[in-house]
Amino acid sequence: MIRLNNVVVTYRTSRGSINAVDGVSLEIPDGCIVGIAGESGCGKSTLMKLIYGDVTSPMTLSSGSIDYGFENEKGARITSANIREQWFKRISYVPQSSMNSLNPVARVGTQFIDFPGADPDKKRVMEKVRGYIGKLGLPVETLDAYPHQLSGGMRQRVMIALATFFQPELILADEPTTALDVVVQKEILLLLMDLQEQMKNTILIVSHDMGVHYQTTHRMLIMYAAKAAEYGDSEKIFRDPLHPYTRMLISSLPTIGDDRARQGIPGTPPSLWGDLTGCRFAARCPLATDKCRAEEPAFVEHRPASSPPVTMPVPKSSSRGTDNGSNPPHRGPEQGLPAGQFHP
Ligand SMILES: Nc1ncnc2c1ncn2[C@@H]1O[C@H](COP(=O)(O)OP(=O)(O)O)[C@@H](O)[C@H]1O
Ligand code: SF4
Ligand SMILES: [Mg+2]
Repeated sequence: MIRLNNVVVTYRTSRGSINAVDGVSLEIPDGCIVGIAGESGCGKSTLMKLIYGDVTSPMTLSSGSIDYGFENEKGARITSANIREQWFKRISYVPQSSMNSLNPVARVGTQFIDFPGADPDKKRVMEKVRGYIGKLGLPVETLDAYPHQLSGGMRQRVMIALATFFQPELILADEPTTALDVVVQKEILLLLMDLQEQMKNTILIVSHDMGVHYQTTHRMLIMYAAKAAEYGDSEKIFRDPLHPYTRMLISSLPTIGDDRARQGIPGTPPSLWGDLTGCRFAARCPLATDKCRAEEPAFVEHRPASSPPVTMPVPKSSSRGTDNGSNPPHRGPEQGLPAGQFHP
């Protein structure tokens, strides 16, 4: 189990500072695929970099902490302070646009040998690599090719092969299918799902495409303007989304047999540089009230004994159960409703 405790990630620039991840707390169980969804600029990649431990200027972890749920060889807990020592071995990262981050002047095979942490016996490594890439659907000749000789889908497979070669417990994949055509997208997602099934590890997948989350993930985090909007079991979220933003994201998905034109969500998220008073979704929310515009909603975790945690925001001092038009309706277990039946 990985625990993020109220993490705040700040970019400090000459223009000023913004919090690109603002007070996110999460528990990520072992052995599942977790999706991170949300529009461009909401902090998905920043959160991935933070979890990977790739925190360099102008990015800083300004408060909060991460506990990765495992220890190093000396018995010390792995946290945000020492996660880097686990790179490639127990945590790996397929960054956004990673297809283009292969070394263009080195043959693919060499990139496995030059891999930090690789076995110094090159012959032995190449033997293992040959066997491994075959399992990932890559012909052995791929190892002699230069990256530009491969299709986008094959380059992404190579990136995934590099990231999974040491069978890390945690794999972070940032937009792994963006820029690929639909057929190749599906192949890459199936490959990630197969690998997770075999390795029983945890994979975090960032995508702005809700279809990817629907097909791939066990749990989902919906981010909005640097905040967590909703977190929980993917099936539950798709069946019964709690946050109006999640509902809008889901209803913008096309469904088979429904020819009606689907619309994106009107409006844009607030600038992280601007005034962020109140609920950050208020300007686009059909349920918004003056209270929502004035008060930042708290992130409340609803965890009944029999079900996995579901988290959602409700305004701090709103009266639950009212639907008199002055506040958004808030319903909870005290009204006898089943778990997950809140809506903010
Ligand atoms: N190096 C940087 N310096 C300053 N701001 C940054 C930097 N990288 C990202 N940001 C800002 O942080 C916010 C979140 O970015 P990012 O994590 O890339 O979002 P996403 O992956 O969801 O599109 C955006 O407002 C972006 O402009
Ligand atoms: S707090 Fe208000 S504005 Fe924000 S999502 Fe809930 S109902 Fe909408
Ligand atoms: Mg991104």
